[in-house]
Amino acid sequence: MTPQSFCYTSLHKIFLTFILLATQTLSRDPKFEACEPKSCGKGPKISFPFYLSGKQEPFCGYPSFELTCDDDQELPVLGIAGEDYLIKNISYSNQSLQVVNSRASRDPCPSPMHNLTLHRTPFSVNPSHVNFSILYNCSYNLRNDFTTYPLTCYDNTSLRSFGVFQRETLGSSCQKLVDVPVSASGKFDVNLYLGITYIDILKRGFVLNWDAHSCVRCNSSGGRCGHNDSSEFVCFCPDGPKIHDTCRNDRSLKLKIGIDGRSVAVKRLYDNNIKRAEQFRNEVEILTGLRHPNLVSLFGCSSKQSRELLLVYEYVANGTLADHLHGPQANPSLLPWSTRLKIAVETASALKYLHASKIIHRDVKSNNILLDQNFNVKVADFGLSRLFPMDKTHVSTAPQGTPGYVDPDYHLCYQLSKKSDVYSFAVVLMELISSLPAVDITRTRQEINLSNMAVVKIQSHKLHEMVDPSLGFDTDTRVRETVIAVAELAFQCLQSDKDLRPCMSHVMDTLTKIENNGFGSNMDVNKSGPLVVQSPNSVMAKWDSK
Ligand SMILES: *[C@@H]1O[C@H](CO)[C@@H](O)[C@H](O)[C@H]1NC(C)=O
Ligand SMILES: *[C@@H]1O[C@H](CO)[C@@H](O)[C@H](O)[C@H]1NC(C)=O
Ligand SMILES: *[C@@H]1O[C@H](CO)[C@@H](O)[C@H](O)[C@H]1NC(C)=O
Ligand SMILES: *[C@@H]1O[C@H](CO)[C@@H](O)[C@H](O)[C@H]1NC(C)=O
Ligand SMILES: *[C@@H]1O[C@H](CO)[C@@H](O)[C@H](O)[C@H]1NC(C)=O
Ligand SMILES: *[C@@H]1O[C@H](CO)[C@@H](O)[C@H](O)[C@H]1NC(C)=O
Ligand SMILES: *[C@@H]1O[C@H](CO)[C@@H](O)[C@H](O)[C@H]1NC(C)=O
Ligand SMILES: *[C@@H]1O[C@H](CO)[C@@H](O)[C@H](O)[C@H]1NC(C)=O
Ligand SMILES: *[C@@H]1O[C@H](CO)[C@@H](O)[C@H](O)[C@H]1NC(C)=O
Ligand SMILES: *[C@@H]1O[C@H](CO)[C@@H](O)[C@H](O)[C@H]1NC(C)=O
Ligand SMILES: *[C@@H]1O[C@H](CO)[C@@H](O)[C@H](O)[C@H]1NC(C)=O
Repeated sequence: MTPQSFCYTSLHKIFLTFILLATQTLSRDPKFEACEPKSCGKGPKISFPFYLSGKQEPFCGYPSFELTCDDDQELPVLGIAGEDYLIKNISYSNQSLQVVNSRASRDPCPSPMHNLTLHRTPFSVNPSHVNFSILYNCSYNLRNDFTTYPLTCYDNTSLRSFGVFQRETLGSSCQKLVDVPVSASGKFDVNLYLGITYIDILKRGFVLNWDAHSCVRCNSSGGRCGHNDSSEFVCFCPDGPKIHDTCRNDRSLKLKIGIDGRSVAVKRLYDNNIKRAEQFRNEVEILTGLRHPNLVSLFGCSSKQSRELLLVYEYVANGTLADHLHGPQANPSLLPWSTRLKIAVETASALKYLHASKIIHRDVKSNNILLDQNFNVKVADFGLSRLFPMDKTHVSTAPQGTPGYVDPDYHLCYQLSKKSDVYSFAVVLMELISSLPAVDITRTRQEINLSNMAVVKIQSHKLHEMVDPSLGFDTDTRVRETVIAVAELAFQCLQSDKDLRPCMSHVMDTLTKIENNGFGSNMDVNKSGPLVVQSPNSVMAKWDSK
């Protein structure tokens, strides 16, 4: 089968059924016309529950959602408690909007003086935020291992003011403290927070969620939402207002995606040129040939001549390992150590298989480890190294690995190897031990990267400080011994010299032995004695767990 026919037949297995009902009208209702979405220059389109004062009628939205236009910024403005917030983006389906205090983008020395209060507003700060605390007029010097962002523009006395993400440990010798929510999307991307000023952080803004009648049914039936004189929700349809929240009677829009009855996940990649697309299809054919119980199955790709590339994957129901360990809804205590060991072994098994198939994963991370309802592992997103071959001389738009997981050796020679996966996998092992994310800017400078943190803690005999307390490290001898053995293995895999790291099949064997309580092959683990491990600079270092 040629690659084209392969992709084509694979796609053929996907049946897309659209039943769209056209709305036909002769003359349009004036309220429907009045509530047409509008925008301020390049800003997002404004519609219910918002309305743009002066450009739309007040019945197109609710009073607390009244917006004005900032003509300089060409963005809509929402007023909350006397402050103006520029609206960068609105997601009507998520009922969320991204806002930035207008002073942050205008004032040369923005100095927020009040905590945000959303009492009696329909808004709430999205739980994914972090607080950036601004501390004014502080009389002590900061410990320099905290990542701080000074407000030098504000200081003109001997007192110092600064912003910090983690303030609990800082004492209280400051005259004023103001918490500013900051969007945490990218919280774990250390690159977003290095070499920037506090103003850059304020400019990131944050996400607000709103609470109002949903417009989804009305809008998707071709209507526009609003309210009547007694503030009751109305769906303005082209042929007049409707009492129900839809312009349709009872038939609705249907979209079905299925393969011979299975759920699938579809990944869409960026536009590409035809030649690359051809090469891409060849690689996809190789990847679809891979079969392993702990790898997500790839069913195929789409597009004959089109520039759009679709990868159709097996769908795995229960989220990623990252979700379970430290996502917004995570409850790490539901993942006992025995389950985590099983996850480690299965992930290693999938990576060993990939390496044996001459494929480097290139983006091993807890976000790419999917779990089904029995916590069976399915490794996803493999093979990107084949789909997007790295080119030294060329600035590539391909995914380059994720901060916190990237092999330090890679930065030296720009050569990915199987040992790069081994390094990234070790970061995942430390996540399993600690339930901490791979990168977290709110940790102290040395500990921003989990890999650094692990190496430092292990070398200073403090592994126990980073073990997830819910695992029973202090109370259960077997847990304690196996956690230590896994940490020891991770330590070997985190060597900055890739030649000192074990290969994936050795990692897999060692983990299997640890799981069976054999503690691995070349390890000097004993209940009483300290472990002996090699430190990254090849000096023998002794450590024990307490
Ligand atoms: C708004 O959000 C959408 C979806 O997340 C994104 O594609 C778009 O780039 C965003 N626009 C701006 C101006 O941030
Ligand atoms: C809506 O929420 C989902 C899940 O939280 C998120 O993945 C998506 O990016 C959001 N969309 C927009 C446009 O913000
Ligand atoms: C941020 O600070 C506000 C008040 O200062 C508090 O209500 C909120 O819970 C804090 N958020 C986080 C994520 O700590
Ligand atoms: C900081 O100290 C200066 C000088 O004493 C004072 O004018 C200013 O109001 C103080 N700022 C805050 C936020 O307390
Ligand atoms: C520094 O000077 C500015 C402008 O004169 C003033 O607004 C600010 O409060 C001063 N800050 C302190 C700490 O005195
Ligand atoms: C802001 O909230 C924090 C935490 O609740 C509090 O310690 C601080 O005093 C508040 N600041 C102001 C200016 O009210
Ligand atoms: C309404 O539906 C259209 C497509 O039918 C979509 O482009 C638009 O974003 C939707 N608007 C809202 C407010 O949901
Ligand atoms: C507003 O709509 C509600 C529900 O459809 C209706 O009961 C009420 O009479 C309407 N009020 C006005 C003033 O139109
Ligand atoms: C898996 O997902 C299903 C459906 O969302 C949910 O009912 C179940 O509790 C989840 N199981 C685990 C182990 O998270
Ligand atoms: C964290 O690790 C990344 C590579 O994963 C590296 O680029 C970065 O410099 C490290 N940061 C710190 C603070 O160690
Ligand atoms: C631990 O030490 C004891 C006594 O020296 C020895 O009998 C035992 O075999 C050792 N266990 C391991 C796993 O090396």
